[in-house]
Amino acid sequence: MRLDKYLVHTNTCTRSEARNLVRSGRVLVNGAPAASSDIKINENADMVTLDGKQVLYEQYSYFMLNKPAGVVSACEDRRENTVLDFFKNEPCKDLFPVGRLDKDTVGLLLITNDGALAHRLLAPNKHVWKKYYVELERSVSSEDIEKLCSGVDIGEDTPTLPAKIELPADCSEKNPSKLYLSIHEGRFHQVKRMFEAVGNKVTYLKRVSFGQLELDPDLKEGEYKKLDPNDFLTNTAM
Ligand code: URA
Repeated sequence: MRLDKYLVHTNTCTRSEARNLVRSGRVLVNGAPAASSDIKINENADMVTLDGKQVLYEQYSYFMLNKPAGVVSACEDRRENTVLDFFKNEPCKDLFPVGRLDKDTVGLLLITNDGALAHRLLAPNKHVWKKYYVELERSVSSEDIEKLCSGVDIGEDTPTLPAKIELPADCSEKNPSKLYLSIHEGRFHQVKRMFEAVGNKVTYLKRVSFGQLELDPDLKEGEYKKLDPNDFLTNTAM
């Protein structure tokens, strides 16, 4: 990796600042002043210091994206824009989305290059809860809510596992058409198919949480923020 990229990746400075820091002799690589900011270093073996303090390389990066509608949850696609298009200026390599949201679904998507974490989060036996805000074509009856909570037949070998439904804080209707659904499985189009199973149709779907991670309300659609893994890797479910 180029030294300036390394310094940007470690949140030490911007690329142009890196050039000045190196020119002024404040950046050492293995104890010797770096000759220029575009030299190649081995991020796993070389020791980089700035003003005598070691600049530590983060092997993995974690981002929370508020996915907009119209982009696909894939690393590349021949026809469509992907969620990784938002990360083109990030210096870290090999990013991918942890799981998928449909093209028309918005909301929280974790983007990382930590394959082991993704594997843990997506493993069916880990039962990581995902919460969705759902708007529906028709209102749901209390019988529908009961069915959705205990498990419905979506045309697979087994019904869906028990889910949780919560009503928005400002909801006073007995038969709402906007609600929160939490599930801890990840079957294909699961939320949409669950509502189809009770004769309804999802018109808007937004993921608001994923395990311990809650969508930051300040993030607009298409915006993302870097996550500190210490903030959300604190228990085994995540
Ligand atoms: N369930 C769906 O139907 N779609 C999504 O994008 C996520 C969950």
